Amino acid sequence: MLNTKNILETYNWNKINFCEWEYYKFLPNDFKEFPLVYKNLYFFEDLKNYISDISNNLNTKTDLNIKQSFNNKPIRVELNNIDSINRIVNFFENYFQHKSLKSQVTRSYPSDFPIYTNTDQCSKENYWISQFWHIDNLKHFCVGIYLNDVVLGEGDFQFIGQPENNFYNIISSKTKPGYTWKDTRFNDYQPNDNEINSIEGERGFVFFFVPNFIHRGTFPKTTTRDFLRIDFKMG
Ligand SMILES: [Fe+2]
Repeated sequence: MLNTKNILETYNWNKINFCEWEYYKFLPNDFKEFPLVYKNLYFFEDLKNYISDISNNLNTKTDLNIKQSFNNKPIRVELNNIDSINRIVNFFENYFQHKSLKSQVTRSYPSDFPIYTNTDQCSKENYWISQFWHIDNLKHFCVGIYLNDVVLGEGDFQFIGQPENNFYNIISSKTKPGYTWKDTRFNDYQPNDNEINSIEGERGFVFFFVPNFIHRGTFPKTTTRDFLRIDFKMG
């Protein structure tokens, strides 16, 4: 069994300096030198009414798609597109002067669903594969917004070390013939707690990210966690 340091080394062939990435030049200026940028509550006044609206829609539990369930209960749901989401998307399209590709509002519920560390342990159909340490393997930049207060252990977005130092190139059939989604997960990687960084933030907390540094999503332990992600395709 490889230790965690050696596991990371097996991915080094694809590691790249963020600023030397061939798509770096297509990124908005916010990403100068860093693939993860905190905007904190900078946009809160602009977004707060839409955020309340989205929370109300999630709370009334109408118009939800179940993404994952456990013990016959939904543990991760997606809110169908509503006007308030579109308004936030439009806000950031104006900010970046760039059309978005897609957006998604999800609510995660506390659950005892086992956390897997190896992709062979799960079926993709009912497992949130973002729980694995991974890169998204997309030429995207994204906006993440916490729609409720998020603290450590309550559905926080997590990453390893400094994102700009743990950044990876796009895996393609050219660089890895026959690659699958499993090649984008860091199989069996189990870092120590002190190597893991957590994004904690209040309701309305915004961060921008280029999702090709090592990161993962987590389920909340005691409360629900609501998140809006907007994806923009580069170029
Ligand atoms: Fe991801």
